[in-house]
Amino acid sequence: MNSTEIKYAAELIVKGELVAFPTETVYGLGANAFNPLAVAKIFAVKERPSFDPLIVHIADLNDISNVYAGNDDRVYQLAEKFWPGPLTMVLPKTSSVPDIVTSGLQTAGVRMPANDMALAFIRAAKTPIAAPSANKFGMISPTEALHVKKQFPDIYTLDGGKTNVGIESTVISINDDGFEILRPGAITSQDLQHVLPISKTAGRKTQLKSPGLLKSHYSPKKPLYIVENPCVNYKSQTEAGLISFGEPDSSCRFSHVEILSKTRNPVEAAANLFSAMHRLDESDVTHIVAEPVPETGIGIAIMDRLQKAAYQSKKTK
Ligand code: TXA
Ligand code: MG
Repeated sequence: MNSTEIKYAAELIVKGELVAFPTETVYGLGANAFNPLAVAKIFAVKERPSFDPLIVHIADLNDISNVYAGNDDRVYQLAEKFWPGPLTMVLPKTSSVPDIVTSGLQTAGVRMPANDMALAFIRAAKTPIAAPSANKFGMISPTEALHVKKQFPDIYTLDGGKTNVGIESTVISINDDGFEILRPGAITSQDLQHVLPISKTAGRKTQLKSPGLLKSHYSPKKPLYIVENPCVNYKSQTEAGLISFGEPDSSCRFSHVEILSKTRNPVEAAANLFSAMHRLDESDVTHIVAEPVPETGIGIAIMDRLQKAAYQSKKTK
């Protein structure tokens, strides 16, 4: 393993850049999990039409408390048995984990990969690394550095050879009465049952849920409407909160304004979207008006999330 390369990769992470790295499952496209703008770049380069929650990778069990807000013995029992390894646990997150990492959920998927290069890289970066598989949307997950380089020639890739598991980690949630598999992987239900019973409510839903369809995806509690040029076109501004792509013009009368990006930079807007929704949900506005963003690049993912949020409010009205 080349320590110069690890050091360089870690420096890129500290600067807020992306690095592709091997794990035992597939190659990941990593960013500093605590830097929302860096994480937004992942969605931009993957060209995913929607935001999916990302897995946060750690290298040492001590570091779990930076991302996991809890102290459930069962989590430590599972970690002891299966980490490092292809098991992702969906856990209540700390406030240090930005909303863009978890698509606005209050939980984060956490795992410790069983790959020496990955562990050295995470330790050198001195921060948890948020990473999905290092492939463009709709493409096959990469199991060799060359797969990554073909799709992302401009992204620095740590070459750790072929990954040995080759399919993505098992994702589980932990309920009061046991675990539930959200995505099957190399660690099976039988393996997990050596440590924890399977939850009685598990398996009731279809197993291979499309992540974008997970009901746990975030939507604000308040009605949200998408309005073109809202400062001009929307009437009851004083009761409403505005999600503005850029700086709104001075005629605007919304009682609470969330600016996604002063420079109308879509990557920055994506990084700020879920936190803006959270703040508006917690404020005293009665409903939320969102200005649409151009539907190109990461703007497609932003609009997908806004449309889902708007759809929720249509349903409950
Ligand atoms: O093996 C792996 O898991 C690879 C390597 C790079 O670690 N990563 C990976 O990430 O497959 P990705 O983004 O392709 O898949 C992450 C999965 C998604 O299905 C997502 O829905 C689920 O994990 N997930 C992450 N956080 C979650 C959360 N808070 N709640 C529910 N599901 C979550
Ligand atoms: Mg993937």
